[in-house]
This record gives sequence, structure tokens and C-alpha cells, in this order.
Amino acid sequence: MSDEAIVAELRKLFPVVEHWTYLYNGSIHPCARPVAEAMSSFLQQWQDGGEAAFFPAFEAFGRLKEKFARLVHAKARNIVITESTTAGINIAAHLLRPRIGQNVVVTDLAFMSNTYPWLAGQAGAEAEVRFVESSNGKIRLEDMAARIDEHTAAVTLCAVTVGSGFRFDLSAVHQITGRYNVPLVVDGAQALGVIDIDVNDPPLDFLATTAGKWLMGPTGIGFLYVDDRYLKSTPPTVGWLSAANVADWDVQHCQLHDDAMRFQGGIPNLIGVVGALAGLELLDQIGREFVERRVHHLTTYLIEKLEAIGVAIWTPRVDSERAGIVFFNVPNHESLHSRLKDRRIYCGSFLGGIRCDPAFYNTIEELDRFLGVVESHVAEQRRGVRDGNE
Ligand SMILES: Cc1ncc(COP(=O)(O)O)c(C=O)c1O
Repeated sequence: MSDEAIVAELRKLFPVVEHWTYLYNGSIHPCARPVAEAMSSFLQQWQDGGEAAFFPAFEAFGRLKEKFARLVHAKARNIVITESTTAGINIAAHLLRPRIGQNVVVTDLAFMSNTYPWLAGQAGAEAEVRFVESSNGKIRLEDMAARIDEHTAAVTLCAVTVGSGFRFDLSAVHQITGRYNVPLVVDGAQALGVIDIDVNDPPLDFLATTAGKWLMGPTGIGFLYVDDRYLKSTPPTVGWLSAANVADWDVQHCQLHDDAMRFQGGIPNLIGVVGALAGLELLDQIGREFVERRVHHLTTYLIEKLEAIGVAIWTPRVDSERAGIVFFNVPNHESLHSRLKDRRIYCGSFLGGIRCDPAFYNTIEELDRFLGVVESHVAEQRRGVRDGNE
């Protein structure tokens, strides 16, 4: 079967294609039929059976940890189910709490949730937060190396950055952080589901992400990989699920799990859990390698055509330096964005530009529809400038 034939079949799983040319998959991934069905079935069981619905859903919680662990080449005992990427990074920031005189190294291509936990002071008000500045949408490793020293308590970065879509070479980053044995906190929200991240190679201390983007699940569910060496640490928050033996009902002594379960608190968002599990199962069925190949094919096409149109592409061109995001700047980007929306084309608009994140189920025809609108907008802007100068 050709990739096109496979895609034609897969598109049937995504009702969004009947309503939109949907190209913002790294923001909120549209809900696939199997994900919707899993969640509706949980709702039905809850309606009909009350608490009885929670037992199978709680089993799904266990399976979700197993599935996510396999995706990142980890063990379920190292996985926390969180509510978001943000929640995961906050746990990491709490555990790594920098002391006076220490610093944390972040980048200016980070998402707010990567820097705020350190800047807001909950991870240590005295710590210096050092920014590595990007150039042309990339972070140069030598610039990062220059910021790290023996006082660095953590380096935190997005494996694939949210704006330019720059993809870090994590092994090369680790060669730098490894010099001082600095813990590495990675945000995988724009990476996992498209590219492979193995928490053992290079060894990561924390890897946080959400179910709601390339993992095709609902928002409200996230994941955190916690390396073994933090599994004895005191969690920022604890609850009954953190207890080593819930059945003891021991309210007078707090004996925590000796695995990442100690970072769970109360009953999780189980409707989200069953949806997230269905998303990961779908990803398994489709095959992550297929997704990566297909996304690469679509983003490469997009970049070539945008170059021909002559917009300022912020995303790096080199294959190994990008994943599923293509970002470009264009004059009057907001008017282009609303024109795209009028044509039922959905993409992102921020930082003076347009972000387009095609997923495996998108087609070249859809990209051409998008590119056609971009091309007319750019031609109009140029005419406007020329006419204005006459
Ligand atoms: C790289 C990255 N990190 C974190 C987030 C926020 O994720 P969450 O809402 O799960 O905390 C986003 C959302 O766009 C993102 O792109």
C-alpha cells in the first residue's frame, strides 16, 4: 500500500478533515474517532454504573504508564501521569530546587512553562536564570556551553521548540551538561509522537509532555519521566495515591511508594486517561516511524514552497534540526491568519508570523490550499508596498 493510500484510510479516523484544512496539530491535536469512542464509552459506563466505571479506567491508568514508558524507552515505574507538560516541569523544578549561588540555564526559544517555574521563584527565588540567546531560530551549542558552569543546577529546554520548531541534538547537549553533571529537564511536547526520544540515550533526568498534541489524546493529561535517582525524593505534593500501601489506610504515617507513583496525588482525570491511552494505541497502530516519515515529507514540501514564495522562514532547513513545526514571518500576519480561517484553513498566528504543523493525515493538496492563500497575501503585500512607493 502506498503512503497516500494509507493516509486516505487514516483520514477516515479524523472527522476534522470534513470541516477544516487543519494544520495546527502541535497546538491541539484533533480528536480521532477511537479516542472519542474510548472517552464516550467511559462516560456511558460512569452514567450507568457510577463507581464501577472507575475500576476499568484505573486499569487503563496502569496501561497508560506502560505505553508511555515504551514510547520513551523507560519503565512504567519512572512515569508520572500529570495534568500537563507544565505540571511535569514544575515537579522537576521543585525537585531540583537551586540553592543560593546556583543558576538554571534556559533558552529564549523556550515556552513560558519552561522558564516560569524557575523565574517565579517557587523553585528557589535566589537562583539566577540564565538565558541562552538564539540566532536564526536555533540555539548554538557553544552559546549554551558558555552559560553552563559548576554552579548550574539544571538545564531545561524544549526538544523541539514551540516557535521556530528547532530540534535540539540532545546527545550533543548532553555532552555539554555531562561535563558538570548538570541535570537535564526536557520538554517533549512538540517532539514526542513525531520523533523518537530515548530517555537512556542520552540519559535524561526529566522528560515532560502532554497527551494533547502529537500523542493524539485529550488535554488535561500529561506525562513525566523521572529518572531513578529522584525516586526517593520528597514530592512537592502528596496524596493517597502516593502511599506505598493504600489499603493500610494509615493516616498517621506517610510511607511513600518507592517509584514514581509517589508523585501522584488524588484520583486522576480518568476520562482523560482512557482518551490518552486510545491516542497512544492509535499511534502504535499507525507506527511512529510512519508518522515521522510522513510529517517530514509534508514539512519539507511546505518549506520548499514557502521559500519559493519568498517569506522569512524561521524554522531551520536542515532535516535533523526540525520536526513537525514550520514557522514563517510575513507582514500583516494577522490579516493572513484571518483570511486562512475564512477559507477554513486552521493554523497558528503569534510572534509576528504563522505556524503550520501538518500531521500524518494531512495531504499535499491541503498544503497547496494553504500555500495558495499565503502566496496571494504576499503578492498583495508586495503590490501594496510598490503602489505606496509610487
Ligand atoms: C513545547 C511546549 N511545551 C509546553 C506546552 C504547554 O503544554 P501544557 O499545556 O501541557 O503544559 C506547549 C503548548 O503549546 C508547548 O508547545
